[in-house]
Amino acid sequence: MPEAKTEAETYAAERTALRNERPVHSLQPVWTAVDDYFGGLLAPGDQALDAALAANAQAGLPPIDVTRLQGKLLAVLAHLTRARRILEIGTLGGYSTIWLARAAGPEGRVVTLEFNPLHAEVARANLRNAGVLDRVELRQGRALDSLAALAAERPQPFDLIFIDADKAGNTEYFQWSLQLARPGTAIVVDNVVRDGKVVEAGTDDKDVEGVRRFAKALAAEPRVTAAAVQTVGAKGYDGFVLAVVLP
Ligand code: SAH
Ligand code: DHB
Ligand code: MG
Repeated sequence: MPEAKTEAETYAAERTALRNERPVHSLQPVWTAVDDYFGGLLAPGDQALDAALAANAQAGLPPIDVTRLQGKLLAVLAHLTRARRILEIGTLGGYSTIWLARAAGPEGRVVTLEFNPLHAEVARANLRNAGVLDRVELRQGRALDSLAALAAERPQPFDLIFIDADKAGNTEYFQWSLQLARPGTAIVVDNVVRDGKVVEAGTDDKDVEGVRRFAKALAAEPRVTAAAVQTVGAKGYDGFVLAVVLP
């Protein structure tokens, strides 16, 4: 009898199956080469980031971290907003968290929310190895619960918020983010294009439904102004929303 799969193994297998359904783009080799080119110049691999990806793979985490250039973009946005307080929703193995924590600086603080205990454990080890665990507060649990608990603590507002968890929750994560923000806070929402699936008719994809519900709420939200940016790169065709809270 084969051993029963752990929840993490089932999750990883499902993610792999989903990724394999995605279209093969004819320009993918060029996108990867260009990512390697600029990534090599502007975000050269370093020991801690490379080790984090290796540890994630070793633990069977799905390889859905931001790319290194996307990590660098998060760091640039953190510097642009002079971010000292950063909130991340969706930690995975902490790859994006390392980028954010480094950009926040030694006096900065990153609060990152992760549901999956295995992901949280791997992330903690990766953050420790990167020397930034002291400036990261990893809260394990459902993001909706963690956000409610966090808001009840009435913390100082966050300067930058990165939403990158289950896409079905985007709208609620965005609403909580507004409560935890101040005028000028930047909010980034990952994976809003999904190979163009966002505009495909007749999809019952829960992630796509989540993105569309979020996009509608975003458009109707007077407290922010926002753009959506389509991206290609080593991890294919996707995109993100960048919003800023208005004065
Ligand atoms: N930001 C990471 C990638 C995050 S992947 C990086 O770029 O490196 C999305 C993560 O969100 C997964 O680890 C998943 O377990 C987590 N997640 C999914 N649903 C969640 C929920 N309801 N609450 C908190 N985390 C959740
Ligand atoms: C998925 C999630 C992500 O955050 C991402 O960047 C890519 C893919 C996913 O759930 O498939
Ligand atoms: Mg993502």
